[in-house]
Amino acid sequence: MNNLLEVNQLQVAFHTKYGKVHAIRGVSFHVGRKEVIAIVGESGCGKSATAQSILGLLPKRNTETSGSILMEGQDLLSSTEKQLKEIRGSKIGMIFQDPMTSLNPTMTVGDQVAEAFVVHLGISAKEAFQKSIELLQLVGIPSPEARARQYPHQFSGGMRQRVLIAMALALQPDLLIADEPTTALDVTVQSQILALLKELQIRRDMSILLITHDLGVVANIAQRVIVMYAGEIVESGSVEEIFARPQHPYTWGLLESLPRMDDKKGGKLRSITGTPADLLNPPTGCAFAPRCPYTMEICENMKPYEYSLSTDHKASCWLQDERAPKVTWNYERDASEQKTTISPRPFFKKP
Ligand SMILES: Nc1ncnc2c1ncn2[C@@H]1O[C@H](COP(=O)(O)OP(=O)(O)O)[C@@H](O)[C@H]1O
Ligand SMILES: [Mg+2]
Repeated sequence: MNNLLEVNQLQVAFHTKYGKVHAIRGVSFHVGRKEVIAIVGESGCGKSATAQSILGLLPKRNTETSGSILMEGQDLLSSTEKQLKEIRGSKIGMIFQDPMTSLNPTMTVGDQVAEAFVVHLGISAKEAFQKSIELLQLVGIPSPEARARQYPHQFSGGMRQRVLIAMALALQPDLLIADEPTTALDVTVQSQILALLKELQIRRDMSILLITHDLGVVANIAQRVIVMYAGEIVESGSVEEIFARPQHPYTWGLLESLPRMDDKKGGKLRSITGTPADLLNPPTGCAFAPRCPYTMEICENMKPYEYSLSTDHKASCWLQDERAPKVTWNYERDASEQKTTISPRPFFKKP
């Protein structure tokens, strides 16, 4: 078994006062050693719930989970809180969107980074502080020695995110889970942080699971992309495949909503119209059908099969079926324009 992480048929549901929210509905994927994999999808599609499942951070009280999450063979879903605490930090590091709320405003940055060393390695505070300075240097914080003695509010957003990366890397984890790590940052700082993550991934030989709603940020960092919609994986493949030969209409929509260098339409961004699926009452057919320009009869009645397009490219869409009309997509014509040329027509019926 060569995969560092294997997620099999993960299902997560939250009990709420409105009913049961089926947030993750049968998600399976793996992360190889030294691989950078991105999970992309709109807000609410289940990205953070996936990350929290892996980290054992879902609220136990109102959550129902099934499936398995194997980290080097150990099932995290059935691990005890003690085992999970050990794994978080030492095997799996994590960083989140908001660098301010994750830092303690009353402690110096150096002491916060040092804490992991003191707790997990049992070394002296002085030695740990020294190690934290080295880490701050590693993540590109200028004058780390002086900066280690300062407090979080004295750092910019980008610098704070670097501190959190230093904390996540303290114990040399094999896997770093980064949930929207650059969403709160401006564009320039965003690309600096992504470049830093890529550099550290290579230097530390680690794997990264990068979670983002922005398909635009994954091209330069990830090797593989997983596209999620309404708690399911709708398409997955290598970065090259996803950008050059995307197959799912939802992925087309994500690509169409990216800003483009050669935009002939005056820089106006397109967005996917319609509202996301209701996870309290998940649809029986394809969850994207109500928003899809190519919906056929079957889409509303039956969940699409997962079609393999090449060794590492899969799409769950009925358009891949040989009986479906051929639809080709390119950047120049967006889906709403194509809708007029290919009218949805009855396809095979529910068996
Ligand atoms: N603790 C929770 N209790 C109830 N519902 C939740 C909880 N966490 C997430 N959800 C719901 O689960 C779905 C997926 O959420 P999330 O994983 O945070 O999405 P994403 O990170 O992709 O924006 C959403 O519909 C969200 O409202
Ligand atoms: Mg999220």
